[in-house]
Amino acid sequence: MLTKLVHHKDALQPTRFINDAAFDWHYPERIQQLSRRHWTPMSVTRKAAAFLSNVPGKKVLDIGSGVGKFCLVAAQHYPHATFYGVEQRKELHRLALTTRDAMGIHNADFIHGNFTQIDLGEYDNFYFYNSFFENLDNNDRIDHQIEYSSSLYVYYSRYLFKALDSRPSGTRLVTFHSSENEVPPSFQVVDTSHDYQLKMWIKR
Ligand SMILES: C[S@@+](CC[C@H](N)C(=O)[O-])C[C@H]1O[C@@H](n2cnc3c(N)ncnc32)[C@H](O)[C@@H]1O
Repeated sequence: MLTKLVHHKDALQPTRFINDAAFDWHYPERIQQLSRRHWTPMSVTRKAAAFLSNVPGKKVLDIGSGVGKFCLVAAQHYPHATFYGVEQRKELHRLALTTRDAMGIHNADFIHGNFTQIDLGEYDNFYFYNSFFENLDNNDRIDHQIEYSSSLYVYYSRYLFKALDSRPSGTRLVTFHSSENEVPPSFQVVDTSHDYQLKMWIKR
């Protein structure tokens, strides 16, 4: 299932994966089945992470990191940045950590909790795959372990809007399938995918 090991400047790099199925195979079957709907495809991650790790040493936060697929794929392709994820579901957070360790990835880390509980000021750039939409959508939910409500959707979107608006000029954001309710007008679109689902933003 794996591609060959890659040598780069004498250092052995963590294994890269040939496609989404090969990557997803590292998770339990239930998690694999959620992948198409809930975890970022590798081709999207590569584009998003290239934009977010434009300068070496950047700290990138995935807001709602699930089982860590975005962060782990990004970390493999962009070893000079560090990718962090914050995830509210304990089981998904635990799977992100065990998969990271099994893959030997050193530039990714995961925090368990609600994104409203952490200091977003510690990160340079942000990735957001429509994490709050589960509060509005009755279909294809990850599980039934948490409370869903439209008021939570509004609360989280406004919270992120304000937090992003207070970030310094030059902050980069990538949204995927977003309704953009959480993106303040101080962020300008600088690039999009052909279908407009993936958007790259920079704060003025
Ligand atoms: C669509 S999935 C994306 C996962 C990951 N970013 C990826 O692309 O592979 C969204 C995730 O956000 C998490 N999430 C939703 N609201 C959250 C919140 N307020 N704080 C932390 N995590 C949250 C959900 O539990 C879910 O795992």
